[in-house]
Amino acid sequence: MELFVLLVVSYLIGSIPFALIIGKGIYKTDIRGHGSGNLGGTNTFRILGKKAGILVALGDVLKGTLAASLPFLLGLEVNPLLVGIPAVIGHCYPCFANFRGGKAMATSGGVLLVASPILFLIMFISFIVFLKLTKIVSLTSMLSAVMFHGIVIWIGDKSDAIATFILLVLIVYRHRENIARIVGKTEPKISWL
Ligand code: G3P
Repeated sequence: MELFVLLVVSYLIGSIPFALIIGKGIYKTDIRGHGSGNLGGTNTFRILGKKAGILVALGDVLKGTLAASLPFLLGLEVNPLLVGIPAVIGHCYPCFANFRGGKAMATSGGVLLVASPILFLIMFISFIVFLKLTKIVSLTSMLSAVMFHGIVIWIGDKSDAIATFILLVLIVYRHRENIARIVGKTEPKISWL
């Protein structure tokens, strides 16, 4: 029962739609009708600019961090990566925004930050390097997720690897339209890095 409540709270935290709150609340714009339509930091950056994009990305990371910290805050012995999964699902399918949310990446990053701050730092640096090389955020997100899962298989235990596999599947599934655009060479590239 305790674990069930923890997972539901994690999902509710993940469901907070920062891209919608900041987009509509501050910029009077619902970014679901613009750009990729995704409720995430990248699309917010694309439509509303750098400051808004960074704010949304930070909020989305924070959701994962808070959810994955619940076992620690409540003194429970549960793997933070596993508790973080419902938050990532909530980010993708938010009950507070018609179940239409983001693509799992930033909130997964926030979960990783709790599970292993060093691995988070390595992933953050690799993300910047992949982005510099590919200039495509979605491709960079998926490459980082594959690398993240690969490292966890190598250094983590079985439950860590199961959790990161679930996150990887979710990230790739949520990027399926991006994958089609990458294959068709129509995925937008960034020009600022
Ligand atoms: O994390 C989301 C990013 O990988 C892609 O976002 O808006 O380009 O589909 P977008």
